[in-house]
Amino acid sequence: MSHTKVLRAPPEFPESALPAHVHKLARPVALQKATQLAFLRFDKADLDEAQRFWTDFGLITVSRTADKLVMRGAGSAPAILMASKAKVSRYVGAAFVVPPDTDFERLQRDSGARPLAAHVVPGGARGVSLLDPDGNEVWLITDWGTVDPLPLREPKHPHMNALGQTPRVNATVRTDIEAATVGRLGHVVMQTTDFHTMADWYMRQLGVIPSDVQYLDDGAPFLTFFRLDLGNTPADHHTVVIAGGLEACYEHSAWEVNDLDALGQGQQVLRVNGHDHMWGIGRHLLGSQLFDYWRDADGYAFEHYTDGDVFTADREPHYGPFTTSALWAWGHDVPASMFPAKTPAMLWRVIKLLRSGRVTLKRLLMMGRVVDTPARPWK
Ligand SMILES: [Fe+2]
Repeated sequence: MSHTKVLRAPPEFPESALPAHVHKLARPVALQKATQLAFLRFDKADLDEAQRFWTDFGLITVSRTADKLVMRGAGSAPAILMASKAKVSRYVGAAFVVPPDTDFERLQRDSGARPLAAHVVPGGARGVSLLDPDGNEVWLITDWGTVDPLPLREPKHPHMNALGQTPRVNATVRTDIEAATVGRLGHVVMQTTDFHTMADWYMRQLGVIPSDVQYLDDGAPFLTFFRLDLGNTPADHHTVVIAGGLEACYEHSAWEVNDLDALGQGQQVLRVNGHDHMWGIGRHLLGSQLFDYWRDADGYAFEHYTDGDVFTADREPHYGPFTTSALWAWGHDVPASMFPAKTPAMLWRVIKLLRSGRVTLKRLLMMGRVVDTPARPWK
């Protein structure tokens, strides 16, 4: 452990200047290019409690029946979250908007897609449902309806004063005491035991581009932040993240709020209503978002964010080592709950992974070193 208490940012390399031992992430030809992350779908054992959490989080109920919940944000998407009543809570999958000329027949023929009935998509759409390699349902939809956006308050800091610069003169900052307004769904992060298969599938089916690739000690990519390919239109630094790990699961999703004040006020509302705060407020390193993480009653993580990076399609992918210190630039230390708990259940999972050959002991030790290496020198 260092006692110098000097922070070190992890190294970062553009793809054109990779160290010799780092492998480039192979990029397959895309079958179609997604233009938008539309909504997420969950099964929930307690739909009332789920609705309470998401409402305090800033989502707005569009419709609710005994067994179905549809919620929107302030933007023009008819829905950004759908939940169904079920015996067991689980993440079901995500829906993405694809161009109208997408060859749905070919997807049914070659990729095992099945057609979606128009009425299952709030706002109406054509599309298909696919299964990703881990069994998450991925809906590709087009001709999706829109709704009128809800009025947003003005950003609180169009002119933020900084040291030596005070553009805000004779004007105060007064924030409303209210839940954060979620404008839209930003990204979804999935953990997998087979990074390469999952990453390849998402690049092929959604045309997503690597923004930042993290590799293990052996130089093999292990986690990638992917953005949509919108050409010259700036896209969020990441819309889909595929993270190598010890299980296939939903990791978290992130929802964009108005601004920094919405993030802070939103935290107060969630806190006073007894929800489970996980991590924040801080600033991420990769993607640069200001973040605040919460867990719902089932333990699923949901992130509020604002002020994220946006890149056009031509921005070169960057690479860096897979390390916990790359998770955040400042804020509270990353909580232990972000990493696998060393429980008998986890040990059993690891034994099964080793036996099946899905992970090697060498790789397991590399992953363990990452988790056990303190992200900050004072830990
Ligand atoms: Fe995130």
